[in-house]
Amino acid sequence: MIIGVGSDHGGFELKEFIKDYLQHISYHVSDFGTYSNESVDYPDIAKLLCKDLILNKIDCGILICGTGIGMSIAANRFKGIRATLTNDMFTAIMSKRHNNSNVLVMGGRVVGKDLAVKIVDCWLNEKFEGDRHIRRLNKIDA
Ligand code: RB5
Repeated sequence: MIIGVGSDHGGFELKEFIKDYLQHISYHVSDFGTYSNESVDYPDIAKLLCKDLILNKIDCGILICGTGIGMSIAANRFKGIRATLTNDMFTAIMSKRHNNSNVLVMGGRVVGKDLAVKIVDCWLNEKFEGDRHIRRLNKIDA
C-alpha cells in the first residue's frame, strides 16, 4: 500500500508530521511536495498526486493546505478522485463508509497534529459500505 502525501506551504509542517507517522506505522509513502515553507500553489501539488492516483501509481492520497479547501476543490476536478475535506474524526469515518474517499484532505491551519493523526487512522481503517452508495457515486462520474 503506497500513500501519496502532498501539501502547499500552509500544510507543509503537518504533511511532514503525517509522513513521518505513516512511515513509522510501516506504510510506504510517496511525497509529492512541497518540500519547504516557501510559498507554492496548491493546485500544482494536487495535480501531481491526483494524476498518479488515477494511474494507480499510489493507492490513496493525503493532501493538506492551510484550510484544506483549495486542495479539495483542486483534487475533485479530476475524474475518479473523491477528495474529502475532513477536519474531524466523524467525517473521516463517513467519507470512507459512504463516499469511498480516495483522497483525505485536511487543513494544516485548522487541525492540530494529534487530531490529524486520529483522522488519518480513522480514514485508513474504515471501509466503503458499497450498496446504495455505489449508485450515488456512479451518478457523480456519469
Ligand atoms: C495559502 O495561503 C492558502 O490560501 C492555502 O493553503 C489554502 O488554505 C487554500 O485553500
